[in-house]
Amino acid sequence: MILSPPAVIHLVAGARPNFMKIAPLYKALSAEAEYFCPQIVHTGQHYDLNMSETFFREFQLPEPDLYLGVGSGSHAQQTAKVITAYEEICLRQPPQLTVVVGDVNSTMACAITAKKLNLPVAHLEAGLRSYDRTMPEEINRVITDTIADILWTPSPDADDNLKREGVSENRIRRVGNIMIDTLRMNETAIESRKKYLEFGVEPKRYGVMTLHRPSNVDRREPLESIVDAVRTCSERLPIVFLIHPRTKHRLEEFGLRRDLERGPNVHWAEPQGYVDFLSLVSNSAFVVTDSGGIQEETTVLNIPCLTLRENTERPITIQQGTNELIRPDTLADCLSRILDGKWKQGTVPDLWDGYTSARIVRHLKEIIAGSVA
Ligand code: UD1
Repeated sequence: MILSPPAVIHLVAGARPNFMKIAPLYKALSAEAEYFCPQIVHTGQHYDLNMSETFFREFQLPEPDLYLGVGSGSHAQQTAKVITAYEEICLRQPPQLTVVVGDVNSTMACAITAKKLNLPVAHLEAGLRSYDRTMPEEINRVITDTIADILWTPSPDADDNLKREGVSENRIRRVGNIMIDTLRMNETAIESRKKYLEFGVEPKRYGVMTLHRPSNVDRREPLESIVDAVRTCSERLPIVFLIHPRTKHRLEEFGLRRDLERGPNVHWAEPQGYVDFLSLVSNSAFVVTDSGGIQEETTVLNIPCLTLRENTERPITIQQGTNELIRPDTLADCLSRILDGKWKQGTVPDLWDGYTSARIVRHLKEIIAGSVA
């Protein structure tokens, strides 16, 4: 792979969990203007103020250099729209490298587009596997990793997964967890924010809940069991429920919104910005979620994380961190263990230290040095 300075590098972001992954990398690359010219490509997969724009403001990112405006749709529609729009851009002004992050539809779509035009691709957060191919993100991860030239991994299990799939070691570089760079960059703001006050709850005396996986919310039955379990738990401890648009639509469609509102202590709110959300999490007694990234943030913050899923692509958060996979019918028991102080204490995985973007910059400079030698 050849990179010549200043290398135009596209940083692709489409959905909420992508913005916190590109922010530290954009800053680290921008600080080395002699070598790199990073450009933000926003696909428009997420477009609501509180799912997208808020994060640009909070992380002090400039307006995206390129905005594809694809919006919502079925998987095929969304993927096809990103591919079509990104191809036009790559044909007009090809980057030297396309960096895709995470596992959303935009990640896979831009990786496919760039590779079909023979442009180099790097995948940040490579190698994670849930081994559950009913999960759309698993398909995105497998396809992206199969075609990307550079696989930047967060943890040893990711390296092992890739090696088992026959990926040659020279494509894999363990750089650590980029989300923790973002966490460290915003630590002071998070510590001084007391968002819980707005919900009338006390520190360490409430839980935070987020929910959006299709397997939990798209059918009435699983969503109803979750609503029942959460309502019961809220009798013991208040729950702050930050509702993703997908979940809000489903709760209304299935007529479950009122059931949850009847819970004595369920506080509803829109999805939060980054600092507000992490302020809520870091002061909470526990988090109930089906998100990927939150399993990692709670591990670093040492907050019990109850993941409402049958599997996780982030097993290190269970083996080393504070995470456990749960079902609606085990939620009450988990809450008892937390209230009795019996939840496990976690440790922070190696290289989840705030220096992942610095390691990526070093790697890219090595490639430049090799290219110009
Ligand atoms: C997507 C990602 C998921 C990620 C999640 C974080 C895929 C396959 N899934 O799921 O991995 O964890 O983002 O949120 O890429 N909507 C809005 N406003 C928006 C965006 C979406 O109202 O700004 C609504 C629309 O009704 C849309 C639905 O949410 O149809 C789902 O959005 P979509 O991007 O398809 O998937 P997510 O569930 O958000």
